[in-house]
Amino acid sequence: MKVTLFSLFWAATSALPSPLMQQNDIPPFFLLAGDSTTATQSSGGGGWGDGFINTTLYSGAKGLNYGHDGATTVSFRAGGDWATVLSKVKEYKTDYRAFVTIQFGHNDQKASNNISLTEYTNNLEQFATDVKDAGGTPILVTPLSRRNYDNSTGTPVVIQDLADQRAATIAAANKTDTAYVDLNKASTDYLNSIGPADAYTYNLVPDDHTHLNVEGSQVFGGMVAGLIDQVFSELKSDEYVEVNSTLLTALEEGKYYWP
Ligand SMILES: *[C@@H]1O[C@H](CO)[C@@H](O)[C@H](O)[C@H]1NC(C)=O
Ligand SMILES: *[C@@H]1O[C@H](CO)[C@@H](O)[C@H](O)[C@H]1NC(C)=O
Ligand SMILES: *[C@@H]1O[C@H](CO)[C@@H](O)[C@H](O)[C@H]1NC(C)=O
Ligand SMILES: *[C@@H]1O[C@H](CO)[C@@H](O)[C@H](O)[C@H]1NC(C)=O
Ligand SMILES: *[C@@H]1O[C@H](CO)[C@@H](O)[C@H](O)[C@H]1NC(C)=O
Repeated sequence: MKVTLFSLFWAATSALPSPLMQQNDIPPFFLLAGDSTTATQSSGGGGWGDGFINTTLYSGAKGLNYGHDGATTVSFRAGGDWATVLSKVKEYKTDYRAFVTIQFGHNDQKASNNISLTEYTNNLEQFATDVKDAGGTPILVTPLSRRNYDNSTGTPVVIQDLADQRAATIAAANKTDTAYVDLNKASTDYLNSIGPADAYTYNLVPDDHTHLNVEGSQVFGGMVAGLIDQVFSELKSDEYVEVNSTLLTALEEGKYYWP
């Protein structure tokens, strides 16, 4: 376990445990809830989750990827994934600070799933509330951009086909007073900056503009980590969540990066 100057100060000056110190002195455990754009790389999907877990967690911080290919905010609960995530929050919350990242939208938006934007928003709000009730900290994540470009202006521009889901996720965060990270905006900006040829190198397979290969997972997993560090700065200062400095600079400057 990490001993910070802050905790040494408290240990030396106070016999009473400080709730703040206890919370920040234990490493985070990230439980990742989402669809295939969070999930482990496989023939059916692959997202940012494994890159985040493999390359950004230090000093005893851990993570588990519960991303489920094809999941919606409805199926993730109905199929039992959500109950598993909540049981893990309860299991880990004494030894870790339990975070749950929640990212959906790619499948909720499909007409065949018949989920209205209002229902999607309500479901995200309920997820956030459930995590708090279980003793964890929810982080709503706006959906990773697809790598589809409109070339009609002469300059390729990312098609923002998840704009409604982005807005709904932010609204759900606002309504429930939950932290959120705007992965949709950060990924859109980055993909616009690097352009289609470089963006496609992150495709799971050549024509899959949604799912990520291992390198793509590490780039966008690093992006998520950097965004989380902006909201929970103690995770960075306590060296629990750290982004490779070369990657972080590339993301900040909108330059192409290959791990
Ligand atoms: C994560 O680590 C596992 C185990 O080493 C490896 O099989 C997998 O390819 C890695 N994935 C990413 C995205 O880094
Ligand atoms: C879609 O959902 C609405 C509201 O739940 C329901 O009334 C309707 O029957 C559903 N449509 C289909 C095709 O399942
Ligand atoms: C835009 O250009 C990219 C790169 O040439 C190409 O892969 C893509 O299919 C084009 N988009 C559309 C909608 O035609
Ligand atoms: C958040 O909600 C408050 C009211 O609860 C509203 O005034 C504000 O505009 C909302 N902000 C966003 C970004 O939706
Ligand atoms: C960051 O990644 C680069 C490769 O892109 C690697 O050479 C470097 O060692 C990494 N830095 C750290 C601190 O892991």
